[in-house]
Amino acid sequence: MFTSLRKYKGTAPKLGAKVYIDEACVLVGDIELGDDASVWPMVAARGDVNHIRIGKRTSIQDGTVLHVTRKTPAKPEGHPLLIGDDVTIGHKAMLHGCTVGNRVLIGMGAIILDGAVVSDDVILGAGSLVPPGKVLESGYLYVGSPVKQARPLTEAELAFLPQSALNYVILKDEYLAENQQA
Ligand SMILES: CC(C)(COP(=O)(O)OP(=O)(O)OC[C@H]1O[C@@H](n2cnc3c(N)ncnc32)[C@H](O)[C@@H]1OP(=O)(O)O)[C@@H](O)C(=O)NCCC(=O)NCCS
Repeated sequence: MFTSLRKYKGTAPKLGAKVYIDEACVLVGDIELGDDASVWPMVAARGDVNHIRIGKRTSIQDGTVLHVTRKTPAKPEGHPLLIGDDVTIGHKAMLHGCTVGNRVLIGMGAIILDGAVVSDDVILGAGSLVPPGKVLESGYLYVGSPVKQARPLTEAELAFLPQSALNYVILKDEYLAENQQA
């Protein structure tokens, strides 16, 4: 049914329940998506030289690129890409070999490089760049290129993070229903 899902070395992406995969995205290889995750038009994700894991209710929005770094003798694990639950990845972001916790908002056009860690409950401003290996502390807004800690998140912003994920779960359910009618 999904032409967007392609094998690499015999491994195809694995989808949880009620996942929405837009027809105009490409997912290759060792990628797993949790229940209710969504992947929007023009996303390119390659789980070829390492794996990609995407948590429950997480949305990967239009034009985002996801990739990983290979395993080498110097770095036997390489850099997989690990994204937690209830994460909102804005349009045209680039995530490469990094780790993102739960209830995170990655702003549009942000770039996150190998080995960086975005802890739980963080907002990363639009257009920010997270250098390799940098760790972003839980509960803060980060902006800039390279990224800097801007301020603690407000209670309203902390409450918005899971709500943002839920908004996309509702939206992808509408898209799934539409496709079933077509
Ligand atoms: C950073 C953000 C959360 C706003 O935070 P805020 O604290 O309300 O910021 P303000 O709008 O009050 O601006 C405060 C300062 O930060 C600057 N600023 C705002 N967004 C910025 C960004 N993404 N990068 C760098 N600086 C930014 C403003 O210009 C302002 O600078 P000044 O004090 O020199 O005038 C918001 O601009 C943003 O980037 N949101 C991401 C939205 C997104 O991409 N969502 C995903 C799509 S679903």
